[in-house]
Amino acid sequence: MLLELRELSVSYGKAVALANISLHVAEGEFVAVLGPNGAGKSTLLKAISRSEASTGALEFRGESLQGHPAHAVVGKGICHCPEGRRLFPELTVLKNLMLGAYLRRDASAVAADLKVVYSLFPILEERGPQIVSTLSGGQQQMVAIGRALMGKPALLLLDEPSVGIAHRLKIEIFDAIKRIQQSGCAILMAEQDAQSALRVADRVYVLENGHVARSGSSDTLRDDDHIRRIYLGV
Ligand SMILES: Nc1ncnc2c1ncn2[C@@H]1O[C@H](COP(=O)(O)OP(=O)(O)OP(=O)(O)O)[C@@H](O)[C@H]1O
Ligand SMILES: [Mg+2]
Repeated sequence: MLLELRELSVSYGKAVALANISLHVAEGEFVAVLGPNGAGKSTLLKAISRSEASTGALEFRGESLQGHPAHAVVGKGICHCPEGRRLFPELTVLKNLMLGAYLRRDASAVAADLKVVYSLFPILEERGPQIVSTLSGGQQQMVAIGRALMGKPALLLLDEPSVGIAHRLKIEIFDAIKRIQQSGCAILMAEQDAQSALRVADRVYVLENGHVARSGSSDTLRDDDHIRRIYLGV
């Protein structure tokens, strides 16, 4: 298994944000995590990238990530595109993208991956020398995803890539994420837009109050009464 969590828990002081979560992602799979505000989606991704401490089993390709620092997890092939993008707004598009490759020494492969990012998001090649703070929100999200890809992930963690983005760009971004999966990279994506997530993901976990409330294939969950009522509004 690429990623496997068993009984994973995270607390902030006395508040339990994740309680005994078990989930997995197979090689090349596209898995979405749905759930309302405060459900624990971002906490889950932070626990996986080791930017938040957790208890329980956290394994990548059979090896425990517990105790490893966040940069070591990047080196193993897990790249996190965080909530709110966290770009360097005063640096150029190209500098921000290249920061995603800071651990890599394979210059020619890095150059090839930059070409891959540009083919996914052609606007970024055109805007390479532009200062990131002057891009639109959707374009900044493309930079954030592109930066994570520059780390050459086997597993890409995406935290609400479509939040605050106009419908047209949102479709473009989800289609690009689908193409990233088709290139062989597994994806674990937190998302509140259930409709879009069910369209692109193979499998879905629904988080509510730090617990897994539902899980299954997108096809199954699309017909689930609870999902239809609460998340699809139908
Ligand atoms: N650094 C922190 N310190 C204390 N509590 C936190 C911290 N980060 C998150 N929490 C709490 O943990 C719970 C889960 O938060 P989390 O950010 O994981 O939710 P989320 O599902 O990503 O929500 P959203 O959709 O709004 O981004 C919330 O109750 C939140 O208030
Ligand atoms: Mg969040």
